Amino acid sequence: MAFKFSSHFHITCLLLLCLHTLLLKVECSTKLYIVYLGEKKHEDPNHVTNSHHDMLTTLLGSKEEARGSIIYSYKHGFSGFAAMLTEDQAKQLAELPEVISVKPSRKYKMSTTRSWDFLGLDYTHPPELLTKSNYGEDVIIGVVDSGVWPESKSFSDEGYGPIPSRWKGVCQLGEAWGANNCSRKIIGARFYTAGVDPQNLKMDYLSPRDKKGHGTHTASTAAGSLVVEASFNDLAIGWARGGAPRARLAIYKATWGTGHGLGAGNSATVLAAIDDAIHDGVDVLSLSLIEDEDSFGALHAVEKGITVVYAGGNTGPQPKSIRNTAPWVITVAASTIDRSFPTVITLGNNQNLVGQSIYHESKNQSSGSNFKELVYGDICTADALNGTDITGKVVLCISDALVAPPESFFSIAASNVRNGGGAGLIFAQYTTNLLVSTENCGAMPCVLVDLDIASQIESYLITESSPTVMIKPTTITIGEEVLAPKVAAFSSRGPSVYFPTVIKPDIAAPGVNILAAFRNSYIFGSGTSMATPHVSGVVALLKSLHPDWSPAAIKSALVTTASTTDKYGMPILAEGLPRKIADPFDYGGGHINPERAADPGLIYDIDAKDYYKFYNCTIKQFEICSSPLIPAYFLNLPSISIPNLKNTPIEVWRAITNVGQEDAVYKAMISDPAGVKLELDPNVLVFDATKRVHSFKVTFVPKHKVQGDYTFGSLTWYDGDKHTVRIPIAVRIIVQEFYADTE
Ligand SMILES: *[C@@H]1O[C@H](CO)[C@@H](O)[C@H](O)[C@H]1NC(C)=O
Ligand SMILES: *[C@@H]1O[C@H](CO)[C@@H](O)[C@H](O)[C@H]1NC(C)=O
Ligand SMILES: *[C@@H]1O[C@H](CO)[C@@H](O)[C@H](O)[C@H]1NC(C)=O
Ligand SMILES: *[C@@H]1O[C@H](CO)[C@@H](O)[C@H](O)[C@H]1NC(C)=O
Repeated sequence: MAFKFSSHFHITCLLLLCLHTLLLKVECSTKLYIVYLGEKKHEDPNHVTNSHHDMLTTLLGSKEEARGSIIYSYKHGFSGFAAMLTEDQAKQLAELPEVISVKPSRKYKMSTTRSWDFLGLDYTHPPELLTKSNYGEDVIIGVVDSGVWPESKSFSDEGYGPIPSRWKGVCQLGEAWGANNCSRKIIGARFYTAGVDPQNLKMDYLSPRDKKGHGTHTASTAAGSLVVEASFNDLAIGWARGGAPRARLAIYKATWGTGHGLGAGNSATVLAAIDDAIHDGVDVLSLSLIEDEDSFGALHAVEKGITVVYAGGNTGPQPKSIRNTAPWVITVAASTIDRSFPTVITLGNNQNLVGQSIYHESKNQSSGSNFKELVYGDICTADALNGTDITGKVVLCISDALVAPPESFFSIAASNVRNGGGAGLIFAQYTTNLLVSTENCGAMPCVLVDLDIASQIESYLITESSPTVMIKPTTITIGEEVLAPKVAAFSSRGPSVYFPTVIKPDIAAPGVNILAAFRNSYIFGSGTSMATPHVSGVVALLKSLHPDWSPAAIKSALVTTASTTDKYGMPILAEGLPRKIADPFDYGGGHINPERAADPGLIYDIDAKDYYKFYNCTIKQFEICSSPLIPAYFLNLPSISIPNLKNTPIEVWRAITNVGQEDAVYKAMISDPAGVKLELDPNVLVFDATKRVHSFKVTFVPKHKVQGDYTFGSLTWYDGDKHTVRIPIAVRIIVQEFYADTE
């Protein structure tokens, strides 16, 4: 019997409770469920909605009840609905033959300027990718997030041509949002409130307007118009702009709330957004959201030719923390850029040390900083500071990585020092990309230092009877001298728990200290949320250049051309514990390289039908699988991950399509994962006018019989000229089916 009903959550409506409430003639408690019915079977959306109502009418007894229960009817990209149901009703629905799955709606979390120049898309010397794509003007990027602030200069539509005629979206009016808030730049906007905690709705604008600021930041990063001289308090001055600065934006507000906490949204709102986006005609969907797996909405979007770009999450450097890892989406990791914010700390003995901060001096303080008393605050918890007078003093706080990661210490230290009347904070940590958090320090300077710098300050503190310190305003260093990119410490890591036969993340993009729009000004943001729109912007340019490429082809172009070394040829590092050379579970194919992605030479393409086969035979194998179970490493992905290589060699096939010059000869270069021998057949591919697609076979032969761990390799096709088409490989040799991964 098919098991279609998944109850991940506690059953709130236990049988006893139901009996009890029934006796009292009170409704048993209901909850929001997502009911998925697969392909849309009717052309007429109204018909689809009616069929949803009919299905529930039988179950709930009346048409009125059915109408009242359904919150969203998904009818454009796919068929299904979100409804308030009891556990029991959900189970009954799941029994119906036409129902594919019934699942509780889950909560979603939300997790410039310089970054684009760093990626080689310099506006002052625009490369072909920008000019040939006309800066992305014909492409529509759908952003599913917390809304947008239309007054920001980043969304000016000055000089834009008419809205592409294929656009079918709307400008949904609401609180503080009029019809004129949509433009030739923001061509559509909608919002979704169902199932969202009313508290979060109350704090926010009941409209596409963005109270939280997250959506404005991500939308302006993907497609912000050119703004000259954007800066945060005069730091990081530069031209602000998105990756595809003339692309059109379609805004889908599906997360709500304010403040520094996480926004609130759920599967129902996000699916409604995706369903509408498919109908409206977006080309790219950018989702800086974190959720747990099983994204059939994204699958339907990809089938319609829409590239779906998802954030991988900010819970690194823990292994297996990567999220949004379905094979059909692009999952993004975050990296640092070549901009740093050195801040000089001068000790009373005139020793100069350097930390990082975004401390700026207010204009009327311009007489310069001066020396202040320096005190030792240890870990700067309330307990640690008890008995120390910190009023008007600069406090040295040291995070204890054995107890908790630095970010949790930082917020405690910053608030204790500020509330205690401190004049400044020097915070010691191993690198965790906390710079953005120092924005919250306001006028009080907060400087981040490395643990060895802290140790030098400590020695000075011990030897000096009245130690003092002076913190100078931050300066900025850009370019050559800054070692970049590095995978950010917080960036979530593979392998994917849900899809171990796929390498995730797919790619890394800038996501640390990114300056982008916030209301009418600009602020820094860090996270895979910031990295995601970088990829979406590049996808828009690629789409404009190669309108006939499928989402799989675009992903392949990005992954196979990504960099694994920096501009000096040194391997890209991954921050974390310990800091190490990055591997595919940190950055997939590597760091995004837009110009090379525009001309990848060869691509690994996938027909969306193959994704469905995989979806049907992996996720839903018990009901709708029409063929034997297929592991995802048989999908024609631009990567190979084999988590279970036993005694017998495994053969994997790939097909590769020439999209470069017609006549080309590619030779293979193989880097074997440790403990495994890769055999390739053939290892030379000759393309010409009659032969555009070649297949080849990779055989994975284990060298040892061992309960192993993942090792990494790669397969690169090289045409002897400018095309190197590289895919990452991950293999784990196992003896037993059960194992513990290393942590
Ligand atoms: C957006 O709409 C609001 C409410 O109608 C209006 O006050 C505001 O000026 C509009 N903004 C833009 C950029 O048109
Ligand atoms: C700067 O000057 C303004 C106006 O005199 C004053 O209100 C403000 O408090 C001053 N700021 C600082 C940090 O001294
Ligand atoms: C500080 O320490 C003293 C002595 O141990 C204790 O009595 C007091 O409650 C502490 N104060 C705080 C705020 O923890
Ligand atoms: C997957 O299942 C759906 C729903 O039953 C079906 O319509 C579709 O044809 C299946 N696709 C493949 C490739 O098996």
